Amino acid sequence: MCGILGYLGRDNAVDVLVNGLKRLEYRGYDSAGIAVLQQGRIEVRRSVGALRNLEESLKRESLFGTTGIGHTRWATHGKPSEQNAHPHCSGNVVIVHNGIIENYLTLKQRLENEGYVFESETDTEAIAHLFAFHMQERRSFLQAFRAGIRELRGSYAIAGMCEAEPDMLLVTRSGCPLVLGQNENAVFLSSDVTPLLAHTRTVTFLEDGDLGTLTPRGVTVTDGEGRPISRETSHVDWNAEAVEKGGAPHFMLKEIHEQPEILLDTLRGRYSYDAGDADLLDVTIPLETFRQVRRMWIVACGTSWHAGMVGKYLLESLIRRPVQVDIGSEFRYREPLVQEGDLVITVSQSGETADTLAAAREAKRLGARVLSIVNVVGSTLARESDGVLYTRCGPEISVASTKAFTSQVMAFYLFALHVGRTCHVLNPEDGRWWLDQLAAVPGYVEHVIKHEAELVSLAKRFYRKRNFIYLGRGINFPIALEGALKLKEISYIHAEGYAAGEMKHGPIALIDEDVPVVVLAPRNQLYDKTLSNLMEVKARNAPVIALVSEGDHSRDVSADCVFAIPDCHALLSPIPLAVALQLFAYHVAVLRNIDVDRPRNLAKSVTVE
Ligand code: AGP
Repeated sequence: MCGILGYLGRDNAVDVLVNGLKRLEYRGYDSAGIAVLQQGRIEVRRSVGALRNLEESLKRESLFGTTGIGHTRWATHGKPSEQNAHPHCSGNVVIVHNGIIENYLTLKQRLENEGYVFESETDTEAIAHLFAFHMQERRSFLQAFRAGIRELRGSYAIAGMCEAEPDMLLVTRSGCPLVLGQNENAVFLSSDVTPLLAHTRTVTFLEDGDLGTLTPRGVTVTDGEGRPISRETSHVDWNAEAVEKGGAPHFMLKEIHEQPEILLDTLRGRYSYDAGDADLLDVTIPLETFRQVRRMWIVACGTSWHAGMVGKYLLESLIRRPVQVDIGSEFRYREPLVQEGDLVITVSQSGETADTLAAAREAKRLGARVLSIVNVVGSTLARESDGVLYTRCGPEISVASTKAFTSQVMAFYLFALHVGRTCHVLNPEDGRWWLDQLAAVPGYVEHVIKHEAELVSLAKRFYRKRNFIYLGRGINFPIALEGALKLKEISYIHAEGYAAGEMKHGPIALIDEDVPVVVLAPRNQLYDKTLSNLMEVKARNAPVIALVSEGDHSRDVSADCVFAIPDCHALLSPIPLAVALQLFAYHVAVLRNIDVDRPRNLAKSVTVE
């Protein structure tokens, strides 16, 4: 998730762009840049790291121009670096982009054959060269822009300008937000309204396929073929912080609601349907490693450890290979029996968790290859691993991890599919079947979010309770742990996650009418066993909240409360179940008036032991 910005008016674009990018830093902050037209020439300034580095650069060598574009980056393709920072130029065209171009490699190969030289690792640079290519054959930037857009596949919000046509900015979107604004002195474009609030509160939200032309005369919107489109203007009365949260009261709720799109982004451009295989380009570990690997380990902390546990069930179920899961702080001091040739998979949203980093270093010292599933591109763990599978879920601001967790699990689905196909345990038809299943997961999450009101009702009924038990079996056991962690870390209620079959070995002594029990009972081969556990706790007067598959009207689900997730394959239930439990925990915490985004005693990234 990145932030794009554009300005065309009477003032110095540099000031407007830099101040506006500060408002977009929550969308990405690993690098930033601007381009302005200065005396008819495109001048670009980019800096890696925080936006203040760009400001310092501009103080050292100032720029002036009344037309310009800017960008603050959350890396998906290519590490955070000045070279990979936007804007990207080609010939007399310069652009900024938010999103993921799925077919950029195909475009890149074609454009390199045409003689274009790529300087960055980004998918965005292919867009710049594509526009420049079409400029050679067409009379105007607008015609070249339209022709180039027709060839893009994936998600994008793009803004571009051209030296030859200085009084014009062009924008378009597909799957990423883009908003236009204007006042008596200028026209603006942005990924969201926050930077515009200082200049205007009357804005126009573009829709997918819209193409905006910004000139000193104002803004026009057409479709890709140039047919005029009428878009309503809106008046924005949000304050800037509310806009950063997308109108949600907390980043956590915004990030929970982002998950359908995030899961699509985690999948985008990462599979070949014809081959029935995941296409993990950025993993950069030789495929032979997966064929030869004797043992696999998964090491992580907290919520990421729970994702690793789901990964274990997936890998052992799909490819019948043993996988050991470990907590980072245990693994690093246990003199683990890792041997040469083992594969250690570390999982971390931040890529900076001290215990996970130490575990990865210990694994490498023992001769293992380390593959990391990480969200922050260029983080320490990413840089020190032999291969990285990025989750691409954008900045996760809230301390409680939600979209990072589900994108980690989705990354494990892709990895398990890839290893299964590489080891010929799965054939292309199996692979295509699995890809069809994974494509349905964002819809499952949308279903859960659509029924959020039911989870609010559950929260209202139970938010005063002081102890909870969460039960799950099989691949949903880690989800019981994750649901309990979500509740305890943001509502300060004591909650324990247990393997449902464990209750009779002691924890059932905790059960009484004041201990609500959340039972994860989707349709699967352990359903009957789980229902027995539900009846056991029900018999001891515990209030039971059952999460079941839609259409499960089994007379035995005599829970006090039932929430249904879509009826999906047994191995796919973790993500919709996790989202339901995220929403339940969130609404309980809100009812308890807790600062959901900044819960006490916790940090977003535990970079110390
Ligand atoms: C989860 O909600 C917590 N924020 C915490 O458990 C977190 O998952 C853990 O600290 C690991 O962080 P990482 O994914 O950045 O390594």
